Amino acid sequence: MSGDAILKVRDLYRTYDISGGLFKKASQLAAVKGVSFDVERGSTLAVVGESGCGKSTLARMLTMIDAQTSGSIEVDGLPIDISKTGISRDMRQKVQIVFQNPYGSLNPRQKIGHVLEEPLLLNTDMSAAERRDMALAMLEKVGLQPEHYGRYPHMFSGGQRQRVAIARAIMLKPKLLVLDEPVSALDLSVQAQILNLLKDLQDEMGLTYVFIS
Ligand SMILES: Nc1ncnc2c1ncn2[C@@H]1O[C@H](COP(=O)(O)OP(=O)(O)OP(=O)(O)O)[C@@H](O)[C@H]1O
Ligand SMILES: [Mg+2]
Repeated sequence: MSGDAILKVRDLYRTYDISGGLFKKASQLAAVKGVSFDVERGSTLAVVGESGCGKSTLARMLTMIDAQTSGSIEVDGLPIDISKTGISRDMRQKVQIVFQNPYGSLNPRQKIGHVLEEPLLLNTDMSAAERRDMALAMLEKVGLQPEHYGRYPHMFSGGQRQRVAIARAIMLKPKLLVLDEPVSALDLSVQAQILNLLKDLQDEMGLTYVFIS
């Protein structure tokens, strides 16, 4: 079925130049080699593969962090190629990423309230009070409490930190969420809780997932 694809990827490649050592010639490494797929709106695409096969490289291209070497990516009918054209704020808001290790993506000196409000501060003209209300509502949505608003990342458990990272990723109501091994650093019971949360959010917000596991 390709009736309502939110994401279309065609023949996508990413190669890296590997500089030669003293006795080696410079060479190229193909991290992603000719990947094609469609993802239907509201569905989940699971990406599996052995370590080093290019999953995170794919995630970085889909989320406009890294440019493809060749091939095409289309989000909501619009082509994306960061090496050729600037990406509008609108387009960036449509696609968000959640990483495996939320500690790495949370600034240790920023309170959670600020972490959640930052996307609103940068991308909307909401007032401080409106931003605060929305951050508090989002904390509740991901199963955290109002008192977490003023706390720092180190005061959270791994599962709670991943809830914060998910909340931040959906602050701007994206259409597509790329999840790069979002639960693999967590205990099994916590993994199940986070997967349930993701399922609920998907149903509630009509999100499309590219889920790397
Ligand atoms: N910036 C880079 N420069 C050079 N090589 C890179 C770079 N990023 C990734 N690679 C190489 O590209 C290949 C794919 O890496 P990638 O991180 O996408 O794999 P992965 O499937 O996410 O692996 P894992 O399951 O371990 O997370 C690897 O061989 C990696 O060493
Ligand atoms: Mg990876």
